[in-house]
Amino acid sequence: MAAVSAGSTHRGRTPLVHPLWLRLTHWINALALLLLVTSGWRIYNASPIFEFKFPKTITLGGWLGGALQWHFAAMWLLVANGLLYLVLNLATGRFRNKLLPVRPGEVIADLQAALRGALSHADPARYNAVQKAAYVGVIALLALVVLSGLAIWKPVQFAVLAALMGGFDTARVVHFFAMSGLVLFLVVHVVMVALVPRTLVAMLRGR
Ligand code: HEM
Repeated sequence: MAAVSAGSTHRGRTPLVHPLWLRLTHWINALALLLLVTSGWRIYNASPIFEFKFPKTITLGGWLGGALQWHFAAMWLLVANGLLYLVLNLATGRFRNKLLPVRPGEVIADLQAALRGALSHADPARYNAVQKAAYVGVIALLALVVLSGLAIWKPVQFAVLAALMGGFDTARVVHFFAMSGLVLFLVVHVVMVALVPRTLVAMLRGR
């Protein structure tokens, strides 16, 4: 039997929008990020950079040691899963087909159309330019959060990385703002999904 790839059809069934590996890596990534953010807030509270702390009820780990254990466990999950997502996207040519190129002119045009309520969602297999920019941007932010995290975790072993981040203290600030960008993405992403719920069905069932 012929293999079924993204975008192809089973006889009499709706087209496959997201292959199984993409759906699995997406949801594992979402879980890992949730664990990382909430345990990260608990770690931040032990030594805040700014004048505020996160409410303890929305943090994970109970205490600094527990939060660190959650954070490192979820970090390996995020890195291993993220590498798998990158390798499979490159190997299948999906990056080139679905996420690239990101052209600033198209992003501005699609953003204006979205604000006028005139952006079409007729084809769920194609991302518009704003989605492409958001998804490529969030992948870059995830890379930044991992690199700044490595610089904070092992500043001696990753001395060059820590220096590139501007030193240990600046790397902490970079890590904090990368986390903030990811949380902002997540809020907007979930609102957009709620506005077009059939995209969620496709991300769960594939079609
Ligand atoms: C927690 C962090 C999350 C990150 C970093 C994230 C990231 C992404 C990325 C990069 C894509 C594009 C994937 C690709 O085609 O290669 C995507 C698609 C999608 N995500 Fe998420 N996601 C997150 C959480 C969520 C959550 C909580 C939901 C559900 C409410 C969700 C629902 C979706 C849906 C439905 C799509 C497909 C959108 C479409 O086809 O128009 N994501 N996400």
